Amino acid sequence: MSKSFFLNHIAQTNTNPLSIHVKSAKGSYIKDINGKKYLDLVAGVSACTLGHCHPKVTSAIKKQCDKYLHVMVYGEFIQDPQIYLAKSILSLLPSNFDNIYFVNSGVESIEASIKLAKRYTSRSEIISFKNSYYGSTSGALSIMGDDNFKKKYKPLISDCNQINYNDFTSISKISKKTAAVVIEPIQGASGFITPKDGYLNAIRNKCNETKTLLIFDEIQTGFGRTGNFFGFQSYNVIPDILCISKGMGGGMSIGAFCSSKKIMKSLSENPQLGHITTFGGHPIGCVAALATVKELMNSNIISQISEKEKIYREGLKHPLIKKIRGKGLMLAIELESEILCRKFVKMGLQRGIITFFFLLNNTSVRISPPLTISILEIKKSILIIKQILNDLNYN
Ligand SMILES: Cc1ncc(COP(=O)(O)O)c(C=O)c1O
Repeated sequence: MSKSFFLNHIAQTNTNPLSIHVKSAKGSYIKDINGKKYLDLVAGVSACTLGHCHPKVTSAIKKQCDKYLHVMVYGEFIQDPQIYLAKSILSLLPSNFDNIYFVNSGVESIEASIKLAKRYTSRSEIISFKNSYYGSTSGALSIMGDDNFKKKYKPLISDCNQINYNDFTSISKISKKTAAVVIEPIQGASGFITPKDGYLNAIRNKCNETKTLLIFDEIQTGFGRTGNFFGFQSYNVIPDILCISKGMGGGMSIGAFCSSKKIMKSLSENPQLGHITTFGGHPIGCVAALATVKELMNSNIISQISEKEKIYREGLKHPLIKKIRGKGLMLAIELESEILCRKFVKMGLQRGIITFFFLLNNTSVRISPPLTISILEIKKSILIIKQILNDLNYN
């Protein structure tokens, strides 16, 4: 009954959703209404940083519920949850970041950053990357690097051009007409592609030369996922604008973009209200994010990420695995074919592990568990993955 209601009345975006009917979720596990437990290797698509319902996150939310919920549109009232969160995030960033604007989601931080770059530079061109995904609204689709997803929505925003990721020669397309370059330090939707040595540096240098703003989309790489607090810290390249969301909220919806006051100020004058949002920086999202940041800072969660990556890489040796890409707990297992990936994810559900697909790479499956996944849980998941692959190999 519920499943048919779900399929018929809750709008779907694909014809074959995973359809786990969730009863509860705790730590690395999701339990369905029949009592079946699934080890979650997806974490709400890199969002549930501290696992499900981390006690520090839920307790912060409960406390805030007793104080106040939404009180006013973004940026008008002084709200302590925003102040404390802003202080803690800005303290983790290089000194050029002294301003943060809270929004609701990843895509909103991208939209607003594109607008900010246009306002600040008085230029219109936005350069982004083929096979990149920045979100699903029209602005983000305009800079997306896949025509199949965009073609039915055209005309989109003009003056948006995509270049090949990791191709040094096409960096020359960045010019004095370019307002901003929007790049993910590690490409997500195309299957966790890491940058070549010196690539992000070369982009930074070209942006300096042309006075183009460099926007890092760290919506997936932020908050410890790659083994550093932010992805850019692994590559020693500092952007002008940083977009964050997903793992930031520890399971709540929140996003933000960070920059300098000098740049950010262009949203507040001539005309004012350059980006407005009713629920941006909602107090519940902010306290959940603050609890997440504090836990990441005060624990050894981030310092254990590279060890956890190593266990996956060493444990996942199998004839059907062609390659493992990515960094930290942002790993893509490349298999032979799309059919194999589909069977793999389905058999995973039967055997109690949740894995998932990539938007722009149909021969890989993602392993992006909560960062708090234990070594024992990792070993358990490796065992199940190998059993599935063995069964696929012999069928
Ligand atoms: C790299 C990247 N940018 C932007 C987005 C859009 O974020 P949201 O779904 O919160 O709008 C996503 C979501 O998957 C993402 O992975």
